Amino acid sequence: MNELDALVQTATAQFEQATTVTDLENAKAQFLGKSGRVTELMKGLAKLSVEEKKAQGAVINQAKQAIEAALQNRRAALARAELEIQLKAEALDVTLPGRQAGIGGLHPVSRTIERIEAIFNSMGFDVADGPEIESDWFNFTALNTPADHPARSMHDTFYVEGGSAEAPNLLRTHTSPMQIRHAVQHVKKYRALIDAGQDMPEIRVIAPGRTYRVDSDATHSPMFHQCEGLWIGRNVSFKDLRVIFTEFCRTYFESDDLVLRFRPSFFPFTEPSAEVDIQFASGPLAGRWLEVAGCGQVHPNVVRNMGLDPEHYIGFAFGMGPDRLTMLRYGVNDLRLFFDGDLRFLSQFQ
Ligand code: PHE
Repeated sequence: MNELDALVQTATAQFEQATTVTDLENAKAQFLGKSGRVTELMKGLAKLSVEEKKAQGAVINQAKQAIEAALQNRRAALARAELEIQLKAEALDVTLPGRQAGIGGLHPVSRTIERIEAIFNSMGFDVADGPEIESDWFNFTALNTPADHPARSMHDTFYVEGGSAEAPNLLRTHTSPMQIRHAVQHVKKYRALIDAGQDMPEIRVIAPGRTYRVDSDATHSPMFHQCEGLWIGRNVSFKDLRVIFTEFCRTYFESDDLVLRFRPSFFPFTEPSAEVDIQFASGPLAGRWLEVAGCGQVHPNVVRNMGLDPEHYIGFAFGMGPDRLTMLRYGVNDLRLFFDGDLRFLSQFQ
């Protein structure tokens, strides 16, 4: 093997050993650089005769080209390897499950409220909505619960300064203020009719919403839901309340043999007053009496505060707990689960 073939072999071998671009460029300098072996050989031609220059020059050139080709090969190989590494690092696993946009759903208590609304709608009741920050007047005084009434102590809540019919100052403790708010609006609309001695259209309304009390355990939450009901007319009796509420409970629980019990109770704004208990004939709660609402005939003082004459207008009101109804319907035993915001619990209702 002549010197040049050996040189090509050495160069090729060194290029192969280079594992980085920098190594390769350093190796290149040894052969093709300004003072590399090939360049030295070229310089040596100067001393030769014209004939020899031609012959020797051609041979050196061949060797040079072979070395350059080896260099190009190695460069390409290193570039491929580098790309390979990069592709591996940036690899996408196309078999991974995609990111899904979670499909939201209604809160179980919202579902209950929608059900309540649908059932009462079908019985001719409107749905009304009112403020959660309420005035002392609507929450207590107008409901026959004056400032010194002992019933107020059972409705402790969060107060802010001020407070008048126009300036709300407490978080409402029940939805009963909606009895007055809705009735006053209704009466205003039919004032002329009433003053002319004619009958106004009956008030038939429910008002679901959030309510607040200083209360917290497995069955009480400082924020909870209530749904108020009010039916005022010329001839509305406790019998109507019983029929309506029985119909509601049987439809809501989809159980025809469910029975109701009206247990005497006290509320300042109704007289007489009752607590409504229900009993299932079958299922896990069969035989137990479960309290679901408070109710009663609207107190004459409250009818007066609605702007109506209690000698002419009479009716009933009820207040039930959608949270409680949801617990009974789905067999949930801790109210707080509804408000913890834990999706593992909430998603079960979708
Ligand atoms: N507001 C009462 C409560 O919070 C319930 C109720 C409403 C009672 C309407 C009678 C009539 O306990």
